[in-house]
Amino acid sequence: MRESVSYGVRNSVAVLTLNSPPVNAMGQTLRRALKTHLETALADDSVEAIVLTSCGKLFSAGADIGEFAAGVFTAEPSLPGLFDQIEASPKLVVAALNGGAFGGGLELALACHYRYVVPEAQLGFPEVSLGILPGAGGTQRLPRLVGAQTALEMITSGRPVSAYAARKSGLVDELHSGEEEFVSSAVGFTRLLLKEGAPLRSCRRLSVDLTKLPDGYLRQFRDEVALRSKGFYAPLRCVQAVEAACTLPFREGLKREAELFLECLHTPQARAQQHLFFAERECATIPDLSKKTRPRVLKLVGIVGAGTMGGGIAMAFVDAGIPVRLLDKDKESLERGMNVIRDNYHNSVLRGRLTCEQVEARMALLQGTLFFDELGDADLVIEAAYENMAVKKEIFATLEWICKPGAILATNTSTLSVDEIAAATARPQDVIGLHFFSPARIMRLVEIVHGSRTAPEVVVTALEMAKKIKKVGVVVGVCFGFAGNRMLEPYMREANRLVLEGASPERVDRVLTDFGMAMGVFSMADMAGNDVGVQIRQSRPDQYRHDPSFFLISDRLYRMGRFGQKSGRGFYGYQGRNRIVDPEVNALAEELAASLGIRRRPIDDVEILERCLYVMINEGAEVIAEGVAIRSGDLDVIWCNGMGFPVFRGGPMQYADEIGIDGIVAGIRGYRQRLEEYGAKWFTPSPLLERLAQEGKKLGQFRKGQQP
Ligand code: 3HC
Repeated sequence: MRESVSYGVRNSVAVLTLNSPPVNAMGQTLRRALKTHLETALADDSVEAIVLTSCGKLFSAGADIGEFAAGVFTAEPSLPGLFDQIEASPKLVVAALNGGAFGGGLELALACHYRYVVPEAQLGFPEVSLGILPGAGGTQRLPRLVGAQTALEMITSGRPVSAYAARKSGLVDELHSGEEEFVSSAVGFTRLLLKEGAPLRSCRRLSVDLTKLPDGYLRQFRDEVALRSKGFYAPLRCVQAVEAACTLPFREGLKREAELFLECLHTPQARAQQHLFFAERECATIPDLSKKTRPRVLKLVGIVGAGTMGGGIAMAFVDAGIPVRLLDKDKESLERGMNVIRDNYHNSVLRGRLTCEQVEARMALLQGTLFFDELGDADLVIEAAYENMAVKKEIFATLEWICKPGAILATNTSTLSVDEIAAATARPQDVIGLHFFSPARIMRLVEIVHGSRTAPEVVVTALEMAKKIKKVGVVVGVCFGFAGNRMLEPYMREANRLVLEGASPERVDRVLTDFGMAMGVFSMADMAGNDVGVQIRQSRPDQYRHDPSFFLISDRLYRMGRFGQKSGRGFYGYQGRNRIVDPEVNALAEELAASLGIRRRPIDDVEILERCLYVMINEGAEVIAEGVAIRSGDLDVIWCNGMGFPVFRGGPMQYADEIGIDGIVAGIRGYRQRLEEYGAKWFTPSPLLERLAQEGKKLGQFRKGQQP
């Protein structure tokens, strides 16, 4: 059996090599092996020093995240205990980082006396994005080594730093260079330290240099973190842990870190964020696809439509270094689209995110065209044209004619049937939906719509494409609105209905943003434009399962020319980007409620939140019961990456699991009774939710084609 840490001795230096693919996560087995080999090296008189390295492409991704929920994380040997033992070693210990070191992996390196690193390595503490903080000495050792400012920045942002930056800050002692094989070179570095009589430099003996900190720095940093991480629990605890390093002796600081770590670990937020970590990775596992399915080559992308969506998609590809041909039907539209892209890049330069040279390199990858023929050699063509079936069918008929055999033909439709579009071609196996979310360059989500005849390798290529352009691809089946927009519809319906029943739009929005949604329903409608919603509803009345009266306010605002932000008035008034509450909208709601015979009444915040969320969760349960989504985690990834659901709640389905499915079902039944005729029509628990509630199970246990 493969050992998770291997042991060898070179030139009187013991080399301990982490070997636990794929990422050397430090689960209990690896910890045990590391401890055993460490003690062997310490006991062997012929060993003068120890090098810790790994044989993977990473040094280590840190603690095994799966152990947190399983409760094994604290099992002996614990990471803090092991790192203490390493730091206290009477023999010199050098961390030889052959690749990235994250979280506990970096804490392991910090416990060593010196760090020798390959220049490509990234080093970071991503714990904050898992709802926790570095809990194996990282918050105490890092500031002692590099100062409070750098430590606070790294620990509260979760962003890794390059090996060069780490060398500059003092986190890394030496960068590997030259031709010599890395481990030999690390052993050479260690021998040199021995020869020079270098001290056993342990962080615990250092104290944080506070003399260079500007006055009031810690307080100011804490306030900034509170502001930028509103709703999140862990970031402020990260600050408190580093503050402990600044004010307490090492041992007491470690104790404080451990308390704060456990406080974070046992929050619903930590469970939610760790759920999302695994859910994002599980999205790429498609049960019906053989692991042997290979993706098609993707070297050149064509995009049809240079509007906001097409331009954003084009930027996402060129940002990833993939050449794009961007087509529009007339010169004016094409020029406008290309200019918007250039302006966006120009803004990135102004914000210091890109250099002028980088922008030019990206623009060089982008070629505008007016001729379909020029898309003939593209490996993937994404249609991002007007949301109209006739228009799309015409485009696909042309693409079929001009595109080379094996090219993938994708539509960015948000509502139309991918199967119907595919049927308009003689190669439906090559047709797929790639539903990007606006703004396409920024939003991480791509819904990959698997048509009934889409070939397996086309799906695999789409998943790989999403990864290449740094997005998260979620495979969904064909239905109106796919997964995300389908769940959005009842959520919006309920918000609109609540306004008719007596809650103001700003109140509904405030309840939703207090919960953590990036935007309220009505601010979102104003941003997208009321005209867009009206056009979609008018184009597909057959697909709207409910009474259009729920969108009466929106329709009336549209008829009044109040399209939202673009026209300066919608559900709100606008002065520039500032939102102003408009009493006319409430008056309109009163008038419409009276005409529909809806009794207006005071509505409390709990009811607003529950009704909006419960119908969304209920629809999500239907989406997975029908097999449109493969598992509930996929819906959470969709909502947190494309629809502004708060990451610290882990997505709507995780939220349901956290508060309990039986509570959701009871709530839906309660509203069914309380809301009388309306409730009877719209509040029926999904059979899947009812079954899970009866059996005391969670949505997270459900997988397509399997009984939970
Ligand atoms: N624990 C458990 N599993 C992990 C893991 C971890 N720390 N890191 C990655 N994995 C798993 C993934 O789930 C995935 O599993 P799968 O193949 O079954 O889906 C597999 O390893 C490969 O991961 P990726 O697909 O993410 O691989 P990449 O090469 O794209 O990325 C990475 C590598 C950048 C290291 C990325 O995996 C990552 O960010 N990992 C998490 C790093 C992290 O958050 N570390 C902190 C852990 S908490 C901690 O250390 C607490 C300590 O302070 C006490």
